Amino acid sequence: MEKTAAIIGAGLIGRSWAMVFARAGWRVRLYDSVPAQLGAAEAFIAASLPEQAEYGLVADAAAAHARIHYMPDLTDAVSNADWVQENLPETFEQKREVFVALDRHAPPSAVLASSTSAIPASRFTETLAGRARCRVAHPVNPPHLVPVVELCGAPWTTPATIERALAVFTDISQVPIVVRRELDGFILNRLQGALLSEAMRLVGEGYVSPADLDKTVREGLGLRWSFMGPLATIELNAPGGVAHYCSRYGGFYRRLTEDPPAPEVWDSDNAARVAAALGPPAGPEAVAQRMRWRDRRLMALVSHKRRQPDSEAKEKP
Ligand SMILES: NC(=O)c1ccc[n+]([C@@H]2O[C@H](COP(=O)([O-])OP(=O)(O)OC[C@H]3O[C@@H](n4cnc5c(N)ncnc54)[C@H](O)[C@@H]3O)[C@@H](O)[C@H]2O)c1
Repeated sequence: MEKTAAIIGAGLIGRSWAMVFARAGWRVRLYDSVPAQLGAAEAFIAASLPEQAEYGLVADAAAAHARIHYMPDLTDAVSNADWVQENLPETFEQKREVFVALDRHAPPSAVLASSTSAIPASRFTETLAGRARCRVAHPVNPPHLVPVVELCGAPWTTPATIERALAVFTDISQVPIVVRRELDGFILNRLQGALLSEAMRLVGEGYVSPADLDKTVREGLGLRWSFMGPLATIELNAPGGVAHYCSRYGGFYRRLTEDPPAPEVWDSDNAARVAAALGPPAGPEAVAQRMRWRDRRLMALVSHKRRQPDSEAKEKP
């Protein structure tokens, strides 16, 4: 039987989730309290699905689009939902308020997931009758092209909810990972934060230009990371694997960790230095064009990765 996903919030992330579920054959109910956002989401989806079809990422763009319904009412959107994915702005108050409504109106069998980037589910689900079915499912922007999803339950989320989340995201061709217990920033943003803090220091203190810093990742670290993770990478950088790598290079990394970027790299003074080095920001039209360019590059990369033999495309189990 066709399954139904209710997507709550039709901004950048919600409209992308709608395509992920619809591509996989789910019926989608996309809800937003701002009608113009539903219109913008529909226009974006109408343009993106045929592009994805060009890259072989969706078999039938028109059929996928026909499965998405644009809903101005939350209660209607969640009635009959098997899966609810919340994508409201990143404030604790909004998450708490909407989860009260979702728990009240969604069928008891539905899983309630939040796309929050940083707020642990325990902070906005504790008082809910249905808190055992709530969890974070944190995507990367845009989830229709970047498949990893971080699953992180609250202490009261049941193991069955976690198992169901793993099955659902695998079914819709995403790549779920399990965060075993709650922590600030989950996994992805802790890794990204470590890299960005160092980048803000290196550019802010004038060690390197923004263009050369970006090149270092784009033409260096990132090239390998698009098909193998950092641990799998270092395993190949010393003949005896990770332990050997650590005995060779651990002293050097230890020195670096003794001199970490200071929290002040995120203050306005340093941000202004980095912004000045980057040059004037692009206007909204240029940003929108660059996002479309980024999405096409991602489509080409995802399509390439899907065509690789398993042994090359996947991490070791
Ligand atoms: N943008 C990213 O890079 C990214 C990546 C991963 C996760 N996230 C997370 O996803 C969530 C959504 O982020 P986004 O970038 O899509 O935000 P966004 O601002 O683009 O979209 C938020 C949407 O929520 C709607 N909304 C606001 N209040 C509402 C309400 N009470 N009821 C219904 N709709 C309401 C807005 O109209 C808007 O369309 C956030 O929790 C964010 O942290 C964002």
